[in-house]
Amino acid sequence: MLAPTASMKDRIAMYNDNALKIGLFGVNCSSGRTATKVPERWSASWPDCLALARMADQAGLDFMLPIARWKGYGGETDFHGRTLETITWAVGLLGATKRITVFGTVHAPLFHPLIAAKEFVTADHIGEGRAGVNIVVGWNEGEFEMFGVKQREHDMRYDYAQEWIDVVMQAWTRDGTFDYEGRFFELKGARAYPKPYGDTRPLLMNAGASSAGQAFALRNCDAFFVATGGTRTSLAGSATIVSDTKAAARKLGRDIEIFTVGQVICLPTQKEAEYYYRHVNIENADWGAIDGMLKNRNITPQTIPSEEYDAKRRYFASNAIGGYPFVGTPDRIAEELEILSRAGVRGIGLSFVNYLNEVPYFCDEVLPRLARAGVRAKH
Ligand SMILES: Cc1cc2nc3c(=O)[nH]c(=O)nc-3n(C[C@H](O)[C@H](O)[C@H](O)COP(=O)(O)O)c2cc1C
Repeated sequence: MLAPTASMKDRIAMYNDNALKIGLFGVNCSSGRTATKVPERWSASWPDCLALARMADQAGLDFMLPIARWKGYGGETDFHGRTLETITWAVGLLGATKRITVFGTVHAPLFHPLIAAKEFVTADHIGEGRAGVNIVVGWNEGEFEMFGVKQREHDMRYDYAQEWIDVVMQAWTRDGTFDYEGRFFELKGARAYPKPYGDTRPLLMNAGASSAGQAFALRNCDAFFVATGGTRTSLAGSATIVSDTKAAARKLGRDIEIFTVGQVICLPTQKEAEYYYRHVNIENADWGAIDGMLKNRNITPQTIPSEEYDAKRRYFASNAIGGYPFVGTPDRIAEELEILSRAGVRGIGLSFVNYLNEVPYFCDEVLPRLARAGVRAKH
């Protein structure tokens, strides 16, 4: 482990030499990233989150990335109906861990940037330079209605987010008192102390899929999360996405690291893993929740032909609502993660059906294989 000087280089390296960073994604939300009815599905209770973060910290995992959700998607399980707010969750976990980077995920339109800037500074001091920020602009209409906030037209959300992050950066870096005058914010006599830990700043990430979202990430972020697609060949195909995105960032004089997400079902035999995957993702899928998620994107049997709708539903269920399913033995999963790493992907946020039950086996079996393959340091 490198010394926690909190230099930007060390922050981006997450204070270690792992070429492929591995994190846990979606832990703060009930059912994690799997819309399933199986009774062992993830609770997202605080004791479970805390035990998991301590275990992940000890095992040498690199980051935890929560999902900012404010209400569930319905279905029998009310998928994501119980969620811990992500910044306060990150603060609790940073206080209880030593090495792991913990992100908070913030909806720019719902948090004043000066408040968010200070919340993340507080988290960053508690974590001694291990806080990260995932900036999201929101995409679920119903969620915004419950705040009485009207969503802006799509690309304007990122214009707003640009001013939002500009204000946050000013709060993190400007000495003394400053004014800010923009299209969306007009601030007089703003001050913000202390600055982030080590006088650098928390890692910034974004996962916009649209061109406005990608352009925002290229201009502002250290890490950009993209989907790798649902097939094994699409893993190696990530090399093109990585090189194109990095080249686009370099044109702006910036470096950006590409991350992705996936679901892991890792068991001693391929047969067992595939059986459990089908059992969880398909046979016990919470179809009502999946319908709810699709409806949020205006995809319903009324808006598209029914065959297309059925295919979308199946695709969503089999790809853990967006993310490659790593299903198999430790050998196979290590091999697939190595393919991703060789394609230039810097890291991956993984979800498990029940993180606490399954992460130890993954760490014991897959991490040493990745170390032998040279894509992770020995722990
Ligand atoms: C890894 C990852 C994490 C995300 N986290 C959240 C989140 O916590 N809350 C949220 O509302 N959207 C989240 N999103 C959605 C994106 O921020 C983004 O809105 C979505 O990909 C659509 O892209 P667009 O905004 O460019 O249209 C996430 C997406 C990915 C791939």
